[in-house]
Amino acid sequence: MIELVIGDITRQDVDAVVNAANPTLLGGGGVDGAIHRAGGPSILEECRGLGGCEPGDAKPTRGGDLPARYVFHAVGPIWHGGDGGEEELLASCHRRAIELADEHGCRSVAFPAISTGAYGYPVELAAPVAVAATKEALAAHPSVEVARFVFRDEATLASYRAALDRL
Ligand code: APR
Repeated sequence: MIELVIGDITRQDVDAVVNAANPTLLGGGGVDGAIHRAGGPSILEECRGLGGCEPGDAKPTRGGDLPARYVFHAVGPIWHGGDGGEEELLASCHRRAIELADEHGCRSVAFPAISTGAYGYPVELAAPVAVAATKEALAAHPSVEVARFVFRDEATLASYRAALDRL
């Protein structure tokens, strides 16, 4: 099932939270900053040992002080106009996060609107890619029961809602 809510992803009572990270996995602003601030230094410590992460991939750490047991650090594509494989990389982030959730026995996963902030992916283009990839991945991994997209603003939620309704 896919849920869409307004809120703070660091406060979600789910088994895993997906971070919108960068390839260094050494922290940043936005969701990345919020997760490291709320989750505490143990998350960064663990990230240091992961050797970075390719765009389109996601790597797991424990959740530190977050309610969630795990953080899946996904690296979304930077938007360069759409001809550089951004769509496939964005879809891949969602697939990988659900795969990791299955591997780690997580029944619920919270997603941010990956790449739609600092990475500049237009929300109305990201939304259909994100929800379609998540829907497909949930079907392939039935043990993962809930994917909850958490947004800071109504406009972004509305884009993902419209995309979900069109599926
Ligand atoms: N909870 C939920 N959503 C949030 C939160 C939060 N606490 N904080 C920010 N967001 C939203 C933003 O409003 C945006 O809609 O998450 C979405 C993704 O924005 P970014 O965090 O900027 O992520 P992204 O566009 O993928 O850029 C990643 O930014 O923080 C750096 O290290 C990160 O270099 C990487 C880049």
